[in-house]
Amino acid sequence: MKVLGIETSCDETGVAVYDGDAGLLGHEVYSQVALHAEFGGVVPELASRDHVRKLAPMIEHLLGRLGLGAADIDGVAYTAGPGLAGALLVGAGFARSLAWAWGVPALGVHHMEGHLLAPMLEPDVPEFPFVALLVSGGHTQLIAVEAVGRYDMLGESIDDAAGEAFDKTAKLLGLGYPGGPALSRLALQGDPTRFRFPRPMTDRPGLDFSFSGLKTFALTTLQEQDLPSLDEDTRAQLHADVARAFEDAVVDTLAIKCRRAVEQANSKALVMSGGVSANRTLRARVDSLMTELGGRAYYPRAELCTDNGAMIAFAGWQRLNSGQQDDLTFEIRPRWPLQQLA
Ligand code: KG4
Ligand code: ZN
Repeated sequence: MKVLGIETSCDETGVAVYDGDAGLLGHEVYSQVALHAEFGGVVPELASRDHVRKLAPMIEHLLGRLGLGAADIDGVAYTAGPGLAGALLVGAGFARSLAWAWGVPALGVHHMEGHLLAPMLEPDVPEFPFVALLVSGGHTQLIAVEAVGRYDMLGESIDDAAGEAFDKTAKLLGLGYPGGPALSRLALQGDPTRFRFPRPMTDRPGLDFSFSGLKTFALTTLQEQDLPSLDEDTRAQLHADVARAFEDAVVDTLAIKCRRAVEQANSKALVMSGGVSANRTLRARVDSLMTELGGRAYYPRAELCTDNGAMIAFAGWQRLNSGQQDDLTFEIRPRWPLQQLA
């Protein structure tokens, strides 16, 4: 069974074809980052309009490159939520129309389930049950995963998601949008001993996160310096040191909670996904943590960590293959807790 996957929940247009026998046949992503950069964040209406422009040519290009025609596709999966309502509607409307025209089933997929299952697109597949850490621009969640569709939320962010905290702190440091990857690069030049940021909510039991205080801490740290008196090099070093202290605090906090979750679930596998899981410091940290605990960490290659169509095609294939499909009336769910997924 070959499933076409369509992702349009935010500022990436992603398309992919997943085959039950051969695996991921191919995927393409178009990032709207340049479109939104001048506004310092995603402008929902511009995102929707750009998805409208990109979807048809991207699907035509992907199918052409794979040597596939409409007759080869057995189902269409699209992101039904969570995400920006207008952007979701573009993908949902397009996917449903295609499926109707092609006479195949269509299915709305939960974006976070896509992220959660993305590590299974790699050759070295983690076995159930495992603990998953989902770290993206909109979510920070620790989940006990029993099987596809059986998810138990262990903890999540009560305010900013980890990626959001990266982006807001990057903005303070003048790194543009989305600043997560740039902040991470800058942190490489930072002195880890100069500042120490708090590790929020690690001094009490539980698996919830709170990252919003870290950007305030970064701001206060900058304000405490006599900025006008600093020459360019000193200021650049200050920014790198703040970036380093911030990244260390986020990585440390995530690692502390991962250890708790893995020990609590008595699991040997930790699966990590979502945009922030592309972060190298976090990967190295989680690798050594799991080695220490006698287990292993799994995460997809960087291009499958951030938003993409492959994870939607794969999550959709799992469900379509088991006979699930939606009828012609469809809804999108801009807010859709993973716990409500059947
Ligand atoms: O999963 P994703 O592509 O989109 C959402 O579903 O939110 O995640 C995007 C987030 C952004 O906040 C971005 O800054 C962050 O992931 N990100 C990173 C890195 N790469 C992407 N944060 C830290 N380090 C990175 N290398
Ligand atoms: Zn995402």
